[in-house]
Amino acid sequence: MFALGALVLSVSMGALCYFTTRHYIVGERESADIHDAFVNVTYVSQHVAATDTINETLTTANKVTPHSHSFLEEKNSTWWRGTLAVTWDAIPDSLRSLVINDNTSASQTYTLHGTTQIAVGIPVKELHGAYFEIFDIGEISQTLSRLALALFVAGIVITGLGATVGRWASGRSLRPLSGVSRAAVAIAGGDLGTRLDSTAGDRDLAGFTSSFNRMVDQLQERIEREARFTSDVSHELRSPLTTLAASLEVLETQVGSLTPPAQRALELLSADVRRFQRMVGDLLEISRSDSGSAEVSLEEVDPGELVRRAVSAAYRSLPIDTPPPPVEVDPAVNGTHLWVDKRRFERVMSNLIENASLYGGGATAVHVAPGNGNGGRALSVRVSVQDAGPGLPPSERVRVFERFYRGHAAFQRGAGTGTGLGLALVAEHVRLHGGKVWADEAEGGGAKFTIELPGQVADLDDDEHGGGSGAP
Ligand SMILES: Nc1ncnc2c1ncn2[C@@H]1O[C@H](COP(=O)(O)OP(=O)(O)OP(=O)(O)O)[C@@H](O)[C@H]1O
Ligand SMILES: [Mg+2]
Repeated sequence: MFALGALVLSVSMGALCYFTTRHYIVGERESADIHDAFVNVTYVSQHVAATDTINETLTTANKVTPHSHSFLEEKNSTWWRGTLAVTWDAIPDSLRSLVINDNTSASQTYTLHGTTQIAVGIPVKELHGAYFEIFDIGEISQTLSRLALALFVAGIVITGLGATVGRWASGRSLRPLSGVSRAAVAIAGGDLGTRLDSTAGDRDLAGFTSSFNRMVDQLQERIEREARFTSDVSHELRSPLTTLAASLEVLETQVGSLTPPAQRALELLSADVRRFQRMVGDLLEISRSDSGSAEVSLEEVDPGELVRRAVSAAYRSLPIDTPPPPVEVDPAVNGTHLWVDKRRFERVMSNLIENASLYGGGATAVHVAPGNGNGGRALSVRVSVQDAGPGLPPSERVRVFERFYRGHAAFQRGAGTGTGLGLALVAEHVRLHGGKVWADEAEGGGAKFTIELPGQVADLDDDEHGGGSGAP
């Protein structure tokens, strides 16, 4: 817009300047030439009468005004000229008929063979004819062309300047917006401590910056308050639940003395209390992570070893009848180390394996492979758990990571077992490691959950696995 404004301004100013100058210069020149022509005609009419040597008189008149050509037309259309360079037909017919027929002086600016000329015609009573003089004003055209060129160059320079100033000014005025955009992305990504830098020196921006920062303060306070609330509630529920569970355990030892309906009621109660306990535990963990108070104790580990241990731990702790699946480790991850919180990682694996067992007939394979695009040694590591069950419909693949979301597989098996927090917790644990998790379809059509964790390539010197041991 600045460039366009500068262009319009320079074109209009240039045009105004050019036409005003041209009007002025040509007008001045025309008056001077008319004046010269009158001087010459006076001289010619006096001398023609006295000497009768018309050509010589015209030549002498021409010498006074060297850039002109003089002609004399007598009443019987006899032409005399003071120059050999131009013939009388160079005089425009319109001017000639005006001067001869109307017996009046006139002038005309026109172009002859590409150069601008001024022709002046003055009736001469003594000869019953007219005197014409053609003035070459080509040098004025040249001056005007130079002026036009200078204005054109000035126009380009001004437009360029306009574009530069516009770019600078818009960049300067939009700079705060890119800061806001960066801050908004960071906040949306969970970094609630992000604030805009103070712009106290800039009156226009100071209000905006402080409002933005105030808004984020309030947002942070609200999120933390809500997370604290969930955390407090879960915490408060834990103690009575523990008492309840302990009391139920005591009751379970006396189950033989209860009537069958009371035994059934006790069973249902125990199952629900266990489910409730688990849900409260999960909620507490999620809310800690929401409020930023989750403690992550990272250790450097070998991916293959880590996954093998986590899988066997999951099979030990979960009531699963099927045998554990083989853990296949791609040799390309050898030499890559992960920094993980083992407890959290084991929880991730046990949730995935439990789901595979509940909804997919048991995990069929666990793969450890390098992340996409990492040829040779891996910089990120992918761990996937797959089963041969019905899999997840595409519409559920993202939603299953939402809190309390239970898919149709859960209901097919009969409601009442899960709470829908397992995968939300997986996503939270993975996020705390700077990784990501997603669900898609396994080769046989079952479900496949993959987590990707950022890794670190160990130095060759302390690489126990030997970088090239199995690399493709
Ligand atoms: N391997 C799988 N195959 C098919 N569906 C699955 C699989 N894993 C998870 N799902 C679907 O995703 C939903 C969410 O799983 P998630 O583990 O979060 O909750 P849940 O298992 O229902 O409860 P819990 O909190 O006890 O784990 C499940 O209800 C189920 O519908
Ligand atoms: Mg689950």
